[in-house]
Amino acid sequence: MKNACYFTLVLSFIGLTALYSCNNKARESSTVSTDSAVVQPAAGYETPEKLGEHLVLIGGCHDCHSPKKMTPQGPEIDFSLALSGHPSQMPIPDIDRKEMESKGVVATQTLTSWIGPWGVSYAANLTSDATGIGEWEEANFMTAIRKGKHKGVETERTLLPPMPWQMYNNMTDEELKAIFAYLKSTKPIKNIVPQPLPPVLTAKP
Ligand code: HEC
Repeated sequence: MKNACYFTLVLSFIGLTALYSCNNKARESSTVSTDSAVVQPAAGYETPEKLGEHLVLIGGCHDCHSPKKMTPQGPEIDFSLALSGHPSQMPIPDIDRKEMESKGVVATQTLTSWIGPWGVSYAANLTSDATGIGEWEEANFMTAIRKGKHKGVETERTLLPPMPWQMYNNMTDEELKAIFAYLKSTKPIKNIVPQPLPPVLTAKP
């Protein structure tokens, strides 16, 4: 009798342990799937806009698309003009373009305009203003980065250097959509960026 009791006790202990570990597994796996359902859209960020802001910061977009203020430490990003592109009134540096085109690349001190073998390119206004991406649809942004097309329109010209769209093309759809959501939420800054200039070396007289 004593032995039978002991046996039952052991059995129920094994049963309980099994039940507990099953339960735990179920809880673990349900935690994982709940978490990934919450986390996936914005990869740990509360909203796609927050993820987009982070990607814009680490993706270096401000380096070229935001004007800079000159400080004793050198040029610093002017966040009051964040992502507004090359300032419309700022002329390109007074240099010998032929020499630059054949010898290398030069940038304005705002790092928003670049002169090289491709001519002169001006970083675009990416703010939510109509002079920026305010009238773009998400599909335009995807075409701009996936296919390197100006205004995100397939029939438009290919984007000029140094816009590294070929590199950003490695981002996932979710990441690009998050960047677009963030850009749409930015403070609108009116700034009509000049059209690029063709190279002087190949220009016809
Ligand atoms: C090294 C400089 C540089 C960096 C970094 C850079 N851009 Fe650009 N970007 C440019 C230049 C210059 C142009 C204009 C190219 C042209 O006119 O063909 C441009 C154009 C664009 C355009 C097309 C705008 C239009 O009107 O067609 C988009 C969109 C864009 N950039 C988004 C971004 C985003 C988003 C980032 C960061 C993830 C970024 N860029 C980082 C230099 C840069």
